[in-house]
Amino acid sequence: MNPQSSIPNPQSAGILPANIGYVPTRLAADYSIATTETARLNVVVVGHVDHGKSTLIGRLLFDTASLKQGKIEQVQKACAAEGMEFEYAFLLDALLEEQEQNITIDTTRIPFHTANREYAIIDAPGHTEFLKNMVTGAASASAAFLLIDAHEGIKEQSKRHAFLLSLLGVRQLVVLVNKMDLAGYGEVRFREIVAEYSAFLVTLGLKPAHFIPVAAKHGDNIAARSTRTPWYTGPTVVEALDGFADIDNLSDKPLRFIVQDVYRWDDKRVFAGRIESGTVKEGDRIVFSPGGKTSTVAKIERWSSPERTEAVTGESVGLSLTDQIFVERGHIGTHEKDGANESQQFKARIFWIQQEKLRIGQPLTLRLVTQETQAEVVSIEKIVDATTLNEVSRPGTEAHVARHEVAEVTLRTKKPLAFDVTGYIAPTSRFAIYAGRAPSGGGVILPDRYFQRGKEGGVAENLFWSAGRITRATREARNAHPGLVIWLTGLSGSGKSTVATELERQLFISGRQVYLLDGDNMRQGLNAGLSFNAADRTENIRRAGEAAKLLADAGLIVITAFISPFTADRDRVRSILPPGRFVEVYVNAPVEVCKTRDPKGLYARAERGEIKEFTGISSPYEAPVNPEIELHTDQVSADQAVEQLLEFLAPRLELNRDPQI
Ligand code: ADX
Repeated sequence: MNPQSSIPNPQSAGILPANIGYVPTRLAADYSIATTETARLNVVVVGHVDHGKSTLIGRLLFDTASLKQGKIEQVQKACAAEGMEFEYAFLLDALLEEQEQNITIDTTRIPFHTANREYAIIDAPGHTEFLKNMVTGAASASAAFLLIDAHEGIKEQSKRHAFLLSLLGVRQLVVLVNKMDLAGYGEVRFREIVAEYSAFLVTLGLKPAHFIPVAAKHGDNIAARSTRTPWYTGPTVVEALDGFADIDNLSDKPLRFIVQDVYRWDDKRVFAGRIESGTVKEGDRIVFSPGGKTSTVAKIERWSSPERTEAVTGESVGLSLTDQIFVERGHIGTHEKDGANESQQFKARIFWIQQEKLRIGQPLTLRLVTQETQAEVVSIEKIVDATTLNEVSRPGTEAHVARHEVAEVTLRTKKPLAFDVTGYIAPTSRFAIYAGRAPSGGGVILPDRYFQRGKEGGVAENLFWSAGRITRATREARNAHPGLVIWLTGLSGSGKSTVATELERQLFISGRQVYLLDGDNMRQGLNAGLSFNAADRTENIRRAGEAAKLLADAGLIVITAFISPFTADRDRVRSILPPGRFVEVYVNAPVEVCKTRDPKGLYARAERGEIKEFTGISSPYEAPVNPEIELHTDQVSADQAVEQLLEFLAPRLELNRDPQI
């Protein structure tokens, strides 16, 4: 695709007068949106390479008379010259060739219409290009045709593509069982595919509106009902198209004005951008996220129809404001009462397309509409193979996401990001990930309790945190310190409990609300019955983490003392707390030192083989890679360690502290 077409030129888009110089400052290939085609419905055609995509698209263009005069004759001639049968797929090729010469047209969008509506068919030449287009959002489609070859049946790609559609929230689907001619137009074969594919799609929460038996090559059930499938009574492809609902109803959603550039002349500044959802009017009060600067729209600037005082979803306009506030590319303008979420840490469902594996901590670039920031995966919660839908287990240091896998991860960004959650406003909830320069994956931001705005449907997601009337902030104000979790991790005998007990005492006498959760104690109550195998330790830490989270939400400073040997388990606790509210303290003493201390005589027993899976002896301990602070209890006394910790904590115990620390 042509990246330049993705940036609305303010002159051609009618925002700026022609005599003002326009130099695009940055090109964003991932931010591809037609600027004037607000009424078009974007339909993506997906399917295994040989299942007949091009023929279908060619046939659709032909049957709906969407082709320019002479195009058909041109292809007919070319085919005849080669002594070949007329091929509908060549129509598409010819069309694309023509478009490629016109650099202003995005080659992946093929405009087309039925009697009822305008469409753009989104097509990508190959499987890899298709995946890239999908994950980068270039193919932001409202509906999809999934193509299955009646003869070959369901392939890996048929499944992966469906998974990607469900991930990106494309819920309007029609399945076309193509090449019915090769299956003798038989109902039995058709039903077989319907049964098998429906069963797969259901697991993704997808329910196609129709399954249609077609033979694109011969035009069966494309624009006209075929006499060769008398047993089929459903709609034709064109009827099914016209049955899709309009563009995701983004105009009914809250305002999301995506700032793409700032233009200055004389004293005036105009913020140029696109309205992804909602409506904006002159006089509206606007908040720009991230950062939360507010101002009022003085004027909506456009070159054409400048008298209109309102701009709607899909329009690219310029806004001038009544105040001089700092707004730049990447900001999202919203109305005050329906603002976007803002955070540097969130949960996301991602799809990875790069050969090289995605690993925790690996430097990434994340792009969400026009925002761009460095990012990294903090933890990987769940991995699913996109073809088999089987969950893949790679605990501890094994953790990574391989090509064609979908994963639920926690991401941390270097800069605060403004966003929505999936299922609420699609364009501002999906992002692309780049490892280096190549598009490597894409994803959507998942709702969680800290991002209350917008909620996804679905069975597992129907549970929501019910916020009481007394907020954490209110409790914190009364306590005069934030609620937070100080998480001590280290080997048995490293000094966790000793440090934790003294820390609790000191914080308590200085007037803080503080509470200690200790591993040995919790294993006698809430965590009774859990063993020391890896799965039970993970559960032990999950429960401890959840308990700590509740207490922190109640405004307390929670100190925990658990071995918590696995990085992924600790990272998961970090991810359930608001950013900056989890302080990982590595209580570091070499195992040799812990053995000589052996306060409970456990190391001796473990070495005699009396205790199985003892951490440091017969069970691993994954040291924190990047803890907030490390205490060397083999080099300093317990009191000194507490002193170091208190000094480190001091700025974090302030209310109104810098949220970045
Ligand atoms: S964790 O690994 O699941 O985080 P936790 O901190 O709750 O462990 O409990 C550790 C305490 O349990 C140790 O301090 C020790 O007293 C006791 N313990 C008993 N068996 C084991 C074992 N196999 N490995 C480690 N600690 C054990």
